[in-house]
Amino acid sequence: GAAEKGGFEHFMLKEIHEQPKALTDTLRARIKNEGKKAINLEEIGFDASWAEANRVVITACGTAWHAGVIGKYAFEHFARIPVDVDIASEYRYRNPIYNPKDIFIIISQSGETADTLAAMRMAKKSGARIIAITNVVGSTLAREADLVMYTWAGPEIAVASTKAFTTQLMCLYLIAIQFGVLRGTLNDAELGAAVEALENIPAEAEKILSDKENIQRFAYLQTNKTKVFYMGRLFDYAVSLESALKLKEISYTHSEAFAAGELKHGPIALVDESTLLVAICTQDNLFDKMDSNIKEVKARGASTLVITWDDVSYFDKTADEVFRIPRTMASLSPMLAVIPAQLYAYYVSILKGLDPDKPRNLAKSVTVE
Ligand code: G6P
Repeated sequence: GAAEKGGFEHFMLKEIHEQPKALTDTLRARIKNEGKKAINLEEIGFDASWAEANRVVITACGTAWHAGVIGKYAFEHFARIPVDVDIASEYRYRNPIYNPKDIFIIISQSGETADTLAAMRMAKKSGARIIAITNVVGSTLAREADLVMYTWAGPEIAVASTKAFTTQLMCLYLIAIQFGVLRGTLNDAELGAAVEALENIPAEAEKILSDKENIQRFAYLQTNKTKVFYMGRLFDYAVSLESALKLKEISYTHSEAFAAGELKHGPIALVDESTLLVAICTQDNLFDKMDSNIKEVKARGASTLVITWDDVSYFDKTADEVFRIPRTMASLSPMLAVIPAQLYAYYVSILKGLDPDKPRNLAKSVTVE
């Protein structure tokens, strides 16, 4: 009924709107504010011994895997530690090389995905230590891992994951930054700046939500687009993966994501007048590369949307439309940049008369292979 949806038409829209609170809840218990700002993960058992790892291996499925891809960039950036990230159904059938100093991060909203649990058990058998990031207290993953970091997102009902994803990212950023502190790759000033930026994310997310009519209006103008491509570089590439998944899941629009540098290696062959190209542009040092990619697809008749910072005018002449998100550290952009894409997918689904909460053929949790 309407009451359990908190006045929203669908669970998905409700959950998109719950992100500021979910992000705050996930963050709050893990921040120390005594004198100087710091991260406190001792409560979950993350002590200095974890930071002795030589490598971090991340495995997950679906949206949680996309969070893992962002985690890889985050660990590399903040902690300068090598990361392997793999889809759990691939990982479990490979012949992976183990190192006693590896640690594993297994991400699963439900904590019950069959492939994810199988990958976790393989890693455990090798003797590696396991960190679980999950939303469900007492789930199989939570019970079997050595250390659990909960995403305090509350129950996620809609099949398409939204608040679980952004809170998974918050957890990964907290671990990556704390790793950096323990490994000495971040100094006090850098730590303070990163924590402050994390603390501002919920209010920034709220600001994007207050702008949702713009996204709805744009979705209305794009109903004749049968192909939607998302592209970006680095963190924006990972957000592209998740954005394309959201759209295909609930609107059945053919959508794909690619690293912008790959445009000329294939995707450009598909670009025509029926294409919407969404360029996610939050990595300032790569704006010129993105700009020329956008011009290339525009020249082939695609309509173009850019998602970028609110203080950037770089793309105003190139793109047909620009969505702006509040400026944060470039390395933290995914928690904000994905929100317009979630809203866009939601509105396209509604415009097509579909039920975004219950997409055909999909399940909330894939507990059999
Ligand atoms: C299903 C859901 C996705 C989810 C994936 C992994 O495909 O529809 O939203 O990302 O499973 O689920 P998990 O519970 O392991 O995060």
